[in-house]
Amino acid sequence: MRSPFARATLLATLCTLSFAPALPTFAADATAVSQEKEDSPLAKLMSQMGKHFKALKKNVDKADKKDANVADFNGIAELADKCKAQVPDTAKTDADKKAYADSLDKLATTAKEGAKASADGKLDEAKKAFGDLKKLMGEGHKKFKKED
Ligand code: HEM
Repeated sequence: MRSPFARATLLATLCTLSFAPALPTFAADATAVSQEKEDSPLAKLMSQMGKHFKALKKNVDKADKKDANVADFNGIAELADKCKAQVPDTAKTDADKKAYADSLDKLATTAKEGAKASADGKLDEAKKAFGDLKKLMGEGHKKFKKED
């Protein structure tokens, strides 16, 4: 018969050994988490904008999605306004900063035009506004978004 002390020691050893293989996994996970990059406030706003953009891509020419399309265009306009306060560090000079703000103003104006066209059932105008948003996005990303 083992002493209570010997039994406790044996139990502790078994517990340690059974967890040992998992330890490197925990350690690797911790490293992965600490290396993950936090989204910037601008990236978070842009990501929301991306959802409205995707929905419009699917529905902008559908008359029965009018209300959703109006809401998605308006959503982009509101987010464009918020993005203006989050100047990325790729906008270095005053001219860059002005170009950044101007581009987002244009985005908001165009999105509002799209909302009006959708509300009025003018699908061709709504599609044109969506195309203009896409173009502004392409130009804005080329100038201000870093390569991933
Ligand atoms: C409808 C138009 C636009 C859409 C749908 C859009 C969408 C996006 C998306 C999905 C991202 C990636 C966000 C992430 O990392 O999770 C992004 C990033 C970015 N966008 Fe836009 N974008 C639009 C217009 C613009 C414009 C006009 C500009 C500049 C004037 C711009 C500047 C940027 C910048 C600088 C980033 C990088 C943010 C960061 O990583 O910190 N975007 N955008």
